[in-house]
Amino acid sequence: MASLVSSWSSEVNSIPEKYVVPLEKRVNADVPIGKHIPVIDLSQSSTQSIQQIIKASADFGLFQVINHGVSETLMVDALSVCKEFFKLPIEDKAKFVEKDEGLSDFEPSIDQRPKLYIEKEYTPNKDGSNTNNVKDTVFWKDTFGHGCHPLTQDVINSWPEKPQKYREVISEYALELRKLSLRILDLMCEGLGLEVGYFCQEHSQTQLMVTHYYPQCPDPNSTIGIGEHCDGALINLVQQELSGLHVRDKDGKWFGVEPIPGALVVINGLILKVVTNGKLSSGVHRVVTNSTSDRTSLGSLISPIECIIEPAKLLINESNPPLFKSFSYTEYLGYYFSDTTEIEAALKPYKL
Ligand code: OGA
Ligand code: NI
Repeated sequence: MASLVSSWSSEVNSIPEKYVVPLEKRVNADVPIGKHIPVIDLSQSSTQSIQQIIKASADFGLFQVINHGVSETLMVDALSVCKEFFKLPIEDKAKFVEKDEGLSDFEPSIDQRPKLYIEKEYTPNKDGSNTNNVKDTVFWKDTFGHGCHPLTQDVINSWPEKPQKYREVISEYALELRKLSLRILDLMCEGLGLEVGYFCQEHSQTQLMVTHYYPQCPDPNSTIGIGEHCDGALINLVQQELSGLHVRDKDGKWFGVEPIPGALVVINGLILKVVTNGKLSSGVHRVVTNSTSDRTSLGSLISPIECIIEPAKLLINESNPPLFKSFSYTEYLGYYFSDTTEIEAALKPYKL
């Protein structure tokens, strides 16, 4: 357990070497807050929401939603039980730390059982061969994640027993977030001319609840919470309590995503980009650390399980040729976790 950042971060004054970002790769933690990143009010007419979602998806691949129907009390409770989980004594968390199974840092196991992820310095391929995943910096965070769909009693029983309200609160939160994700996906369908419910079947068979805990950091300039990336999922809905999440706009400029109480950040994943044949982009984002407070974020990632991913037929015609060939989601996921040389490395083999 010694390698959980939160177990030692408050006792150090200088950053252990493997967490120090090489000078040429340092990022500016103080980028301006992106006041122009859309905050979409889902209580307005659906025509307006659709238009704003499509535009935000093209400009940022990321936006925020408010008046989305998830109660503020439930949101507060969900974040609070996740924070409490990280505060538990080490013995209560130890059983969720997996022995090295050859999976890379943040690769959930197929069954999505609860797992406390320890960042590794270097991730060799499963067969021990060379890898493209030579991450030069270890991220300044601890992560806990588990599946939550389908929400069977067995799944719930696999979750932490402590804090006492974890199972009850997270079950309700997971269901609400799934409902909201599918609603947002339906608005996207309407905007693109896809049938409503297009994403409700095989594209959304799993849901992973992920808590990132970024402890306060004595030297934010030399560390990174999560390096720039796109999410491998279909869509991710993130609750953030404090600033730290940055998004890159289409001109390559970085902006902070403003923490707004009650809002949820919607991050389009790479699968959404493929299925919409690039009509919606995926948000390029990263997380920076800070020296004054711990930061916890709670994400709900909707993804396929095992299916063929391809651009929707309805979005393809002579003037819109497919940008990607069909591929197996499982194969793609292998690339996603093993090749981090570029943001879209996992899609490279499938680009037309
Ligand atoms: C992620 C992610 C953002 C955050 O889980 O992929 O980018 O604010 N999280 O922690
Ligand atoms: Ni992400």
